[in-house]
Amino acid sequence: MADMFDERHSAVLANGVKMPLLGFGCYQIPAADAERCVLDALEVGYRHIDTAEAYLNEKGVGAAVRGSGLNRADVFITSKIWICHYGYEKTKTTVYRCLERMGLDYLDLMLLHQGFGDYYGAFKALQELYAEGVLKAIGVSNFFPRFLLDLVKFGAAPAPMVNQVELHPYFQQPQARALMAQNKVQAEAWAPLAELKNNILHDPVLTAIAQKHGKSVAQVILRYLTQNHVVTLVKSVRKERMVENLQSLEFDLDADDMRDIASLDQGKPLFFDHGSVEAVDQFVGFNEHLKQILD
Ligand SMILES: NC(=O)c1ccc[n+]([C@@H]2O[C@H](COP(=O)([O-])OP(=O)(O)OC[C@H]3O[C@@H](n4cnc5c(N)ncnc54)[C@H](OP(=O)(O)O)[C@@H]3O)[C@@H](O)[C@H]2O)c1
Repeated sequence: MADMFDERHSAVLANGVKMPLLGFGCYQIPAADAERCVLDALEVGYRHIDTAEAYLNEKGVGAAVRGSGLNRADVFITSKIWICHYGYEKTKTTVYRCLERMGLDYLDLMLLHQGFGDYYGAFKALQELYAEGVLKAIGVSNFFPRFLLDLVKFGAAPAPMVNQVELHPYFQQPQARALMAQNKVQAEAWAPLAELKNNILHDPVLTAIAQKHGKSVAQVILRYLTQNHVVTLVKSVRKERMVENLQSLEFDLDADDMRDIASLDQGKPLFFDHGSVEAVDQFVGFNEHLKQILD
């Protein structure tokens, strides 16, 4: 089984922490299935698991990691704080609650899930917990360039080490990724398969490349992202797909493939336009809803 922390399979964050390039995503995995899915993922070789308090499955994720028989140091675990728990005091309490739910005494990475609300106070709490060693790395998610740069340039050190954003062949965000690289913020992809939207697995360009290499379209997409040094999260509840997706790390695309896939970018998100005025109202709604469940 490949070493997910070696040079080929991992990225190195600004603080020197190694992060496996391909992670197993837990969004939309029901709480009752989370332990089984994460145990399967760890068994087939994933060493990077991504969850969030908003996914309501942290408990099962923690149980799987503890029950896997693996050394804690050999698994990279991320969670995320939701907006209703932003603010210095609330965020600190929430991190400890998350650790308690997961039955863990530290997390490898904690992210602020969205760039709305008191993310300054929340990030200060993460910085302190990072200094205390409770969090091994800290970062943000869905921070469009303007907001990421705000925190990087006006916030105290350390700056976010990761920004987890929507990234797939139809929304590649080249300028945002360049900005992240300039500021030593590791880009991380969510929905790399676009949650199968727009019939992505039947895209003719991707299909031709897949046929050329004897791989699946999913493997081509995942390899495109990881070969571009993007840490990539992919979700499947099916063990055979977990294996297929993980094996994407074991082949390489050539320069023509990389250029052809780059040309598929449509420059528009398929999910939320986090940078838009409309998104603010949308997220006020999500926040109200989740507040009822999380508090
Ligand atoms: N920070 C954020 O705001 C945010 C937002 C969204 C996601 N995320 C993170 O990113 C992770 C990945 O994104 P995602 O779950 O939204 O979408 P995704 O990984 O792009 O797509 C998941 C979908 O693809 C299917 N699938 C997976 N592998 C496949 C394969 N080899 N062939 C065919 N179908 C396949 C899955 O079905 P089955 O399960 O039935 O196999 C599921 O329907 C999440 O789980 C979460 O950890 C973060």
